[in-house]
Amino acid sequence: MIFTSSIYKIPIVKNVIVFDETDSTNNRAKEFGKNGCVDRTLVVSDCQTSGRGRIGRSFSSPMGEGIYMSLLIKPDVENRLIPCITLLAAVAVSRALYNNHQIDTKIKWPNDILLNNKKICGILTEKCEDFIVIGIGINVNNKKFESRLSDKATSLYIETGQEYDREALILEILKEFNTLYDTFTENKNLKFIIDEYNEKLINYDRDICIIPAELTAKIENPYNIQSDNLPSYHCMGIATDGSLICRDSEGKLFQINSGEISVRNKE
Ligand code: BTN
Repeated sequence: MIFTSSIYKIPIVKNVIVFDETDSTNNRAKEFGKNGCVDRTLVVSDCQTSGRGRIGRSFSSPMGEGIYMSLLIKPDVENRLIPCITLLAAVAVSRALYNNHQIDTKIKWPNDILLNNKKICGILTEKCEDFIVIGIGINVNNKKFESRLSDKATSLYIETGQEYDREALILEILKEFNTLYDTFTENKNLKFIIDEYNEKLINYDRDICIIPAELTAKIENPYNIQSDNLPSYHCMGIATDGSLICRDSEGKLFQINSGEISVRNKE
């Protein structure tokens, strides 16, 4: 991938490191961070041999088809607010696709972006020492997926019949992220995007089940978990700290944090 100098006009990017191939751009960014690399370093690769997702999942990263990037930043916010960054990144991707390409996506809390009900993007935010790494993976020009993924994952190409310039998309996403991140670090909460996030939230005002990480970690394909036997809750949207507000069958409200769980809509 080749970036023009316009990427350095986005304040959130001070340094760009590009690989043809690496195991995971999150791993590289963490390594650079530990070795004292500058804040606001962007790591991009044309393919990943061990792309990682949340809760021990893998992220399929074939050569030249998707976007695999990680941004290393040192946010001046409390630890409890770090999960908010994942939600900001999700809104940034969603805004970039809509504002520049009229592609209308949904967000599955906290970190997946769906197009026509299938996943096109995943976000993995990791904290390491005094910095965090925001990893974003997008299925852009993929023509097909292996059979175990094909009913859950899709790409921009499959859904729109068009190929997209990955460098241009990266710029569009980072511009949106930059704006959102500035407001967030000033406000220290997500109040300013709650309505927008909830509008895009595929779980909003729906019955959901909450799947603990122990369950997803045990099986080879977490998408196959049978959720019928798990209790139902009602999703009330996100709170200002990025947690998900749920209502149980007795009407009691509680909040869940993204760390060790995932949620799924009941059919
Ligand atoms: C998920 O599906 O749970 C999140 C997927 C995140 C994938 C991106 S691709 C760039 C970065 N490097 C990784 O190994 N993972 C993230």
